[in-house]
Amino acid sequence: MTLSHASQVSSRSCLAIVLGAGEGTRMKSAKPKVLHQVANRSMLGHVLATLTQAGATSTAVVVGPDREDVAREVQKISAEARIFVQTDRLGTAHAVLSAREALAQPVDDVIIAFGDTPLILPETFTKLRAPLAEGAAVVAMGFEAKDPTGYGRFITSGKELLAIREHRDASEAERAITLCNGGLMAIRGDLALTLLDRVENNNAKGEYYLTDIVEIARSLGHRTAIAVVSEEEVHGVNDRAQLAAAERMIQDRLRQAAMASGVTLIAPETVFFSHDTRLGQDVVVEPHVVFGPGVVVEEAAVIHSFSHLEGARIASGAGVGPFARLRPGAMIGPKAKVGNFVEIKNTDLGAGAKVSHLTYLGDASVGAEANIGAGTITCNYDGFNKHRTEIGEGAFIGSNSSLVAPITIGKGAFVGSGSVITDNIPNNALGLGRGRQTVKEGWAIEFREKAQAAKKK
Ligand code: UD1
Ligand code: MG
Repeated sequence: MTLSHASQVSSRSCLAIVLGAGEGTRMKSAKPKVLHQVANRSMLGHVLATLTQAGATSTAVVVGPDREDVAREVQKISAEARIFVQTDRLGTAHAVLSAREALAQPVDDVIIAFGDTPLILPETFTKLRAPLAEGAAVVAMGFEAKDPTGYGRFITSGKELLAIREHRDASEAERAITLCNGGLMAIRGDLALTLLDRVENNNAKGEYYLTDIVEIARSLGHRTAIAVVSEEEVHGVNDRAQLAAAERMIQDRLRQAAMASGVTLIAPETVFFSHDTRLGQDVVVEPHVVFGPGVVVEEAAVIHSFSHLEGARIASGAGVGPFARLRPGAMIGPKAKVGNFVEIKNTDLGAGAKVSHLTYLGDASVGAEANIGAGTITCNYDGFNKHRTEIGEGAFIGSNSSLVAPITIGKGAFVGSGSVITDNIPNNALGLGRGRQTVKEGWAIEFREKAQAAKKK
């Protein structure tokens, strides 16, 4: 792609139509196929986000009947997208025509994407649209298939695309062709309805094939073109094994991108990211770490092995894990330390604060440089409501303490080990909430003698 192609494309208006009315029978799922996730975002969400990045100026999504769940997901990702329902599933051209109202608006380019093809990249749509700017009526996206079975075949003459033949309708000779249809297409906006309305269903499946618009365009004297992409990008998901394959590919991309941006991954194949994970320069991620949605890790922080993070922000130079669990709202301050078997939820941990072992902090704020001893628990829930725990700067919470919220522990205050704290502790005070220890001299000797005598009887 030359720069002039990209700029020619970007000045053109573009309607994207995403097909997602497929039943996804092979997924064997109560959930519609396009809502299944890779890298913690629905496949449909990936496609919609990519289309926005690719410069689509309007979007239409074609869904099956009674798919409010799909409509909700569409609204979440791209609020201005319009939703069209395809009631009878009569083929890909019929699906596109379900968005007739959108197609009737004047637009330079129309692109067709599939909701179950989540690996497609924004620059690929740009490549697909480029020939339209030079007068082509239809551009089809082709790839060299390792195994072409099931795909539509490109019938070409030199660089010209003459037709796309669906597998079931192809002759033996045509089935030997390995340049296949990836399914995505770009159509000149002023011709789209003319071409689509001429599609008929006299083929092996009795469906209205989108692919037929290639031959129709040529019969009307228009030019058609091909854009070639890698097989990986047009990987479609029909079953759970293909979903797992898509996850592998997307994780690999995310790992490569993290390393390219200056993050150390000691064993990249063991680290799992979300589509939105953000990692600063010189962050180190040790083996076997899982990033759920919404995690930001700032410069030079270290995430040790076997940690699970979700909805958390980790400031620069902080250390998390091994075996840490950060849940939504965990805000870990600069150079703070979260150690092994620590769970943190909806809590601000101040700069340099330490929570080194075996602790639960929920709905709390912990001041800078405070030290939370092993086995500390914020008792934040009374069975009905959640309550907050405030711990001041430089406070020292002795091991095995229960902090019964709502509770405030002042700056520089101490909590004696093993305390159950139910009353606020002022700045620099000591709070103790435990039974007093008694010592009985010689008690053990007496006890052993009595016990021994009782056993003989
Ligand atoms: C289609 C192409 C084929 C290409 C292949 C690539 C046609 C006729 N064939 O075949 O050339 O090699 O994709 O994967 O286009 N859909 C609807 N409503 C319908 C039918 C389909 O929304 O009535 C949606 C599906 O949900 C899916 C997409 O369109 O997202 C493609 O449909 P599918 O049935 O998978 O087409 P293929 O037979 O795979
Ligand atoms: Mg398919």
